[in-house]
This record gives sequence, C-alpha cells and structure tokens, in this order.
Amino acid sequence: MPTQAIRQRVNRRLEELYRRHLLPHDGEVVTYYNSGTGYNKLGQTAGAERSPFAISLMTTDGEVFHAGEHDLPFALQSISKVFVYGLALEACGRDRVLERVGVEPSGDAFNSIVFDERNNRPYNPMVNAGALATTALVEGAEGAHTAGHPLERILAALRRYAGNRGLEVDEGTFEAEIRSADRNRATAYLMRSDGMLAGDVEATLALYLRQCSVRVDCLDLATMAATLANGGANPITGERALARRHVRDVLSVMHTCGMYDFAGQWAYRVGIPAKSGVSGGVMAVVPGKLGIGVFSPGLDAYGNSVRGTAVCEELSERLGLHVFADSDEDALLGP
Ligand code: DON
Repeated sequence: MPTQAIRQRVNRRLEELYRRHLLPHDGEVVTYYNSGTGYNKLGQTAGAERSPFAISLMTTDGEVFHAGEHDLPFALQSISKVFVYGLALEACGRDRVLERVGVEPSGDAFNSIVFDERNNRPYNPMVNAGALATTALVEGAEGAHTAGHPLERILAALRRYAGNRGLEVDEGTFEAEIRSADRNRATAYLMRSDGMLAGDVEATLALYLRQCSVRVDCLDLATMAATLANGGANPITGERALARRHVRDVLSVMHTCGMYDFAGQWAYRVGIPAKSGVSGGVMAVVPGKLGIGVFSPGLDAYGNSVRGTAVCEELSERLGLHVFADSDEDALLGP
C-alpha cells in the first residue's frame, strides 16, 4: 500500500505526463474515428473530437491513479477482441480455438481480408477476421458454463473484468457500425464459404459489432487491464473474470498481435502486452503489477491512438516496464 505522500507524488507526475502529451501533435495524427461516419480521413476538421484525453492506472493491489477525463464514455471496439478470445478459450478449450484461429501476427491492417491459407484460418484473434471466428465460437458454445444468450455472456464477462455492472451496448454506436459493416460482412461470408465460419453469418456479425459497441470509460479500461495483470481476478471485487490458465495465452496474443501491423514496433519500443481500439482506447497490461488505460481519439496510420502509444511508451520507459528492460528503475514512484 503506498503512503499518502507516494500517492500524491504519483498523481503529480501523472498529471505532468498528461499535460505534456496534451500538446497538439498534428504531424502524427492521420485519422479520427466517428461512430456515425466511420473513419474521417486526414484533412477533415477534427473539431471537438481531438480534445478528449484520459490516462488511468490501476495496480494489482487496486490502487487507482488518473489524469484527464477518466469518466468519458467511449466504445470498446477492438479491445473487446481480447476478452472474447478469453471467453472462447474458456468455452471451447485451447485446441478447438486453435483450429479456428491462429496466433500468428498477420503484419496486415486490422480489417485486411487475408488468411493463413496453410491452416485455413484467420491469422490471429486480434484482427477482425479472427475476432469473427472467436465471436462465433462463443456464440455457438453450448454446455454448463455457457448457458444464456451469447451477448449476455459476453457482457457478463466484460462486467467482471471492469467490476462495473453498468456496462452496456451503446445502441447508437451499434446502429452506425451495422450500417457500415460491408467489409466485415464480406469477410464473414468469405470465411463461411471457405469453411472458417459456420452458421448464421448475420447473427455472428451483429454479435461481433455489439461487443465492439460496449460503452466503457478509461477507469473501466484500466480495471480490465489490471484484472489481466492480476491473473484474471479483478483487483477491486476479487471476482474471477478469466481462468488463470488462459491468461498467459491471452497476453501472448496481445503482445504479438494487439497493435496490428505496429505490433512489432510496439513490442520493441513499449514491450508490454496491449490492445487498441479504433475509438481511441489503448489497454496495456504489466503482468503482476499494473493495468494501464489511455483514451484519446486521434489515430495514427496503423489505427492506434497517437497519445495512447506515446503515453504507454513513456510510462514503459520511465517505470522500466518493458518485459526485457534490464533494470527496474521506478521513476514515477521513486524520489
Ligand atoms: O470491426 C470494426 O470495424 C470495428 N467495429 C472495430 C475496429 C477496431 O476497433 C479496430 N481497431 N483499431
């Protein structure tokens, strides 16, 4: 338990980090996401969309630190893929999940329509094609642990990670997503025609887009990350969100595939398992220590939050969080 003085010092330093990253970074931001219109390309006025920015940290002891607007709601988007992969592992077991989706970085954009042809499966569960496969596994799972409507099972799991029973689908986001889902729909039908997906494609697509549309805030994100950092048990509620034996698999896939075609650079520069979403969230997990949530909607060319990437890189550097860091210097907590 940090003392009051340490807590104040961490808050001060987090605030200072926040203020520095609040400064405009026009050169790097290429995209903003707006749930109504899809992707706003470079050159469009970002307006109010550029300002939201929040950082939340939660330790595995349940200590919380914030800077910025940590209670602003946003859609989980692709970050949901992490949790649904965990659910698929629990529902079907590792071997069956591996039959349907690999664990290999694709080196391609999140929405690319490329598959691991040797194994007739999507490359990994962090790209859209792979997430459609894991969502379908959760949807089709039957048995004692999998009773109830699949959306309710997904929501129940997300609520356990976040320790927030109020998590719900944002219907406005979902409506916008389903209206502009041509690419995901095409991906899903192609997958079915090649035997990678079975069943009702429209139902799977809707379930996938609903899980993407779950409304969270930055504190939820940090709590979800801290739950993974804590071996699958929520540090605040103590509730288990994921069986401990699956945490390693989930974190491994986040580490190698979570930041799309930036995943290699991320592993090199930041060195922490992480996952981003197109609405501007980044969730990073420091096993045994810390969950990090950052929200800021300006995206770079890879579809990752510009501020999210910069903040995680600096936190990793200053706290010595990189998995291969040779020292455990603790600049934020230190004197
Ligand atoms: O599948 C989609 O198009 C979105 N609903 C989710 C995409 C997403 O978050 C990708 N992330 N950068």
